[in-house]
Amino acid sequence: MCGIIAYLGKKPAQPVLIEGLKRLEYRGYDSAGVALLGSGAIRVQKTGGRISALEQILDEPNAAETFGIGHTRWATHGEPNTVNAHPHLDFTGKIAVVHNGIIENYGTLKTWLQSEGTEFASETDTEVITALIGYFYAKCNENEGQLNGQNKFEWAVQQALREVHGTFGLAIVCSDFPDMLIGAKKGSPLILGVGDNEYILASDAAAIVEHTQQAIYLSDNEMVTIGPDGFHTKTIDNVTVSKDLTEIEFSLEQIELGGFEHHMLKEIFEQPKALQTCMGGRIDRQNHRIKLGGIGSYLRALTRTKRLILTACGTAFHAGLVGEFLFEQLARIPAETEYASEFRYRNPIIEDGTVVIAISQSGETLDTFAAVQEAKQRGATVLGIVNVVGSSIARETDAGIYLHAGPEIGVASTKAFTGQVAVLTMLAIELGRRRHISSDQADKHVDELAQIPDKINTILTQSERIKEIAAANIDKDNWLFLGRGFNYPVALEGALKLKEISYIHAEGLPAAEMKHGPIALIADGMPAVFVATAGPQYEKIMGNIAEVKARGGRIIVVATEGDENIRAHADHLITIPDAPEHLQPMLTVVPLQLLAYHAAVLRGQDVDKPRNLAKSVTVE
Ligand code: AGP
Ligand code: GLU
Repeated sequence: MCGIIAYLGKKPAQPVLIEGLKRLEYRGYDSAGVALLGSGAIRVQKTGGRISALEQILDEPNAAETFGIGHTRWATHGEPNTVNAHPHLDFTGKIAVVHNGIIENYGTLKTWLQSEGTEFASETDTEVITALIGYFYAKCNENEGQLNGQNKFEWAVQQALREVHGTFGLAIVCSDFPDMLIGAKKGSPLILGVGDNEYILASDAAAIVEHTQQAIYLSDNEMVTIGPDGFHTKTIDNVTVSKDLTEIEFSLEQIELGGFEHHMLKEIFEQPKALQTCMGGRIDRQNHRIKLGGIGSYLRALTRTKRLILTACGTAFHAGLVGEFLFEQLARIPAETEYASEFRYRNPIIEDGTVVIAISQSGETLDTFAAVQEAKQRGATVLGIVNVVGSSIARETDAGIYLHAGPEIGVASTKAFTGQVAVLTMLAIELGRRRHISSDQADKHVDELAQIPDKINTILTQSERIKEIAAANIDKDNWLFLGRGFNYPVALEGALKLKEISYIHAEGLPAAEMKHGPIALIADGMPAVFVATAGPQYEKIMGNIAEVKARGGRIIVVATEGDENIRAHADHLITIPDAPEHLQPMLTVVPLQLLAYHAAVLRGQDVDKPRNLAKSVTVE
């Protein structure tokens, strides 16, 4: 939900921290700050506003300061202003902390610390962590015996974190140890990049890859201490753990804009390639087989399950809804899709053999992570469909399938949606083949799926025309998105895309639901976007179009190439290549992504960092 970074090495730290924060800014951007060590006391510079506002107040980099921490915030406790911006110092000014997460018992701890004489400057929960470390650090001299020779800064951090309930990704420094950096993780991501005599600790590999491709991914309740003799990993309870160095799977250019105006547009256009990567090695067209190695040992449980629950948030939920239809239609497995935030609290019934599939691009969405934990505690087999390698959800599930879609930087999720649907499609075909569909049918499904990337390329050529459609309708503040069958979740996704980046209110619903209330909304010129492609409900949705048109709605249609019948009924027409209904979501969503993108740009909004949002919602 926010981005943290720390640098310990030979270069002046300030520029490294600022460049790293810019790569993390999509995670949160309401205030920012850095703390630098190396020239005596810790030097903190922070401000409300974006990193560009921080750059305005920064002093010149000091070559002696080759160590520091930085933060770009998405506030949860305390308004986004300078006082509440991170880093936060303890009362001595010796300890500084940047934090991603929420401290649930911060109120109790703050009251106790105040009773012990601690004064607080901010309204944040984070400052309680700093104060607690400072409290134990000050107590160290009274507790020499307990330290058993352990470094007292590290000991104080451990004592403090044992008192804390909630989630954290932390970078912590102490001016008494100007060559020691401590990181700790619980519920929020934290990665340590290991370079040549330099270390970068960050929330996301995007801030690390320009320095090194070698990294370790901390797990919950683990910490890392970096000092002159290298790095040591242990649990917060001081038990040494060994962590393997892994190769970060994407490169710097993949997170650059690559000539596009925004990350979102780049990622929309990356979808054909992302799907080819996602399906490559998993679709064996020679033998017409699908190989999903990541869950190989669970395919039997999946084949035999009597109930599949898909759980996710936002766009991932919409992909899950497509998955529900895929599992029921291709594999004839009863399936249901649950909002993770609802599933985790509603005392769900999990029978023997139930399989839960959690879907998450970031792998850090707290509601989805908690739903995974809830399902596991109730005995379900829990699988993950995740994009970010090594993320919390990926590590919490029993097994999973990575999208391999590459980093998705734009807050509005695009290539992750089509990647999630592709994985769900492959899984449904494989389960269908294992259960009831013939090899010939499965072969046909595999061949048709393999053609989707090229079909998306065809749709992308219409981007300028879709921009014109957006331009003709952005004066309207309320839109409807309507679809049936497999395209009903696409209507929901199209509405979400438009509202979250253009701030136009939009509602997605099953087209047949219009007559049960929403049709009252139709007024002159109200845009109604219909996904009316070839399929079993085509005639029905044509009737819905007529209902809306008769009441003055403005009809925008996504139809199948060659459909001359619909042309007379549409004010604006976008076509997609023909495909079986169950494969259409990966195609019909693309025009809606582009429609939302162009509408947002034409309305002058910040497409990649829309207001109030962040790329990964690690708070509940
Ligand atoms: C989608 O465009 C939004 N950014 C949001 O709904 C997102 O899909 C949701 O927060 C889930 O994120 P996840 O896939 O990383 O779990
Ligand atoms: N809870 C901390 C704060 O409000 C960190 C928020 C975050 O992770 O974005 O400052």
